[in-house]
Amino acid sequence: MDKTLERFIKETCKAVGNDRTRLMDVARAVQAECGCVCGEALDLVARELGLHRVEVESLVSFYAFLSGAAKGRTVIRLCKDIIDELNGLDRVVAAFEQELGIKVGETTADGKVTLEYSPCIGMSDQAPAALINEIVVTNLDTDRARTIARLVRQKGATPELVRTLGDGNNAHPLVRADGDEQHPPEAAGDLRPLRAGIGPAQGRWP
Ligand code: FES
Repeated sequence: MDKTLERFIKETCKAVGNDRTRLMDVARAVQAECGCVCGEALDLVARELGLHRVEVESLVSFYAFLSGAAKGRTVIRLCKDIIDELNGLDRVVAAFEQELGIKVGETTADGKVTLEYSPCIGMSDQAPAALINEIVVTNLDTDRARTIARLVRQKGATPELVRTLGDGNNAHPLVRADGDEQHPPEAAGDLRPLRAGIGPAQGRWP
């Protein structure tokens, strides 16, 4: 048994009071630490939370952001929806694949980066869009894809991936999505009245 993994899972479960209703928190922590929730981790989490292994396994297999097999330290999830396709997703995919030297669904040989598709990530108005771990990037084109791929190889999911928070609710703390350099927030003053009733400006969101 992997003693480091066992210690990590014991401490993580203890931190949530070995409460079985916190399974998702524990699974996310294991995923973040190990890059997956492997078979051994399933057993350990089940033991520490007093669950059946199948209950832990069901959660891990159901949610796409959890994985039973190891992925790269950084996972690039390209939204593959009709809007992204209409906005040039195929060219963006080709640029990522070429720059990373892998196809969608694969991980680089050094284990640093996984490239995969995702359903809609809620940025359809700025497609093509992608999630890089938890960082949202939008308005992708081939140049941007190559730049992102190089940056990710060097530094992982670095905050540097976000050039500007763009306009609209890209700057909301729960989103913090990379925006379009051509339309930074300070250039969007004329659009703000259109957003009346929406977002932080109205004090409705924290
Ligand atoms: S359709 Fe791609 S982000 Fe929604």
